[in-house]
Amino acid sequence: MNAVARLAALREEALACTACRLAETRTKVVFGVGDPQADLMFIGEAPGRNEDLQGEPFVGAAGKLLTRLLVEIGLERSEVYIANVVKCRPPGNRDPRPDEIDACKPFLRGQLELVDPRVVVTLGNFATKLALRTETGITRLRGRTYRWWRGKTLIPTYHPAAALRGGDRVLAAMREDFALVRQTLDAPPEPPPEPEVHADPEPAVPRQLGLFG
Ligand code: URA
Repeated sequence: MNAVARLAALREEALACTACRLAETRTKVVFGVGDPQADLMFIGEAPGRNEDLQGEPFVGAAGKLLTRLLVEIGLERSEVYIANVVKCRPPGNRDPRPDEIDACKPFLRGQLELVDPRVVVTLGNFATKLALRTETGITRLRGRTYRWWRGKTLIPTYHPAAALRGGDRVLAAMREDFALVRQTLDAPPEPPPEPEVHADPEPAVPRQLGLFG
C-alpha cells in the first residue's frame, strides 16, 4: 500500500476511534484535510465547534484567516495539509488533557510520516510547545526556523484565533512568519546531513518531539 492509501486507511481508523473520553462528546472526528503529498503541513490544537460539526479543521473564523494568509503567499488551502494535535473537540473548547494528547499521538505521527512534508508550521502555543518540547511561549519561539524531526523544518507562529483577538501586531507577525514559510519552501531542499563524527555537545534545538516521545 502506498503512502496516500495508508493515510486514507489511517483516517478510517481515526473515524472509528474510541481511545479517549472525547469520543463520547464529539459530533465528528476531525482527522485532517488537504493534499496528502503536501510540502507544507499545519498543526493546530484541537477542533472547535464548527470543525466538530463539519468534520474539517479550521473552517471557522480562524480558518478563514489561515486561508487568507496562505493565499497571500501564493498557496491554495487544497495545496497544503492541515491537521490538529487532537482530532476530537474537547467539550467547551477546554485544553486537551495529557491522556487525550497521548491517545491521539499515533494519528498525528502517522500523518507526519505519510504526508512527509518538508515544512511544518505549528499554530499557537499549544502545538508549538508540544512539538519543541518546551515551556517557552510562542512570542519568543516564532520568527525563525527550527531543524526538526526527520530533517523537517519547523516554523512556529501564532494561532490565527490569537490574531483575530490580538489585532494588528499579531497579524503582522503572522505575515512575517508566512513570508518565512514561502522562503523556506522556495529554497532548494537541504542535502542529508553528513554522518557525525563527534556528538554535538549542545543540540541545535531544545530537546524536542514531545509529540512522539
Ligand atoms: N483551532 C484549532 O486549533 N484547530 C481547528 O481546527 C480550529 C480551531
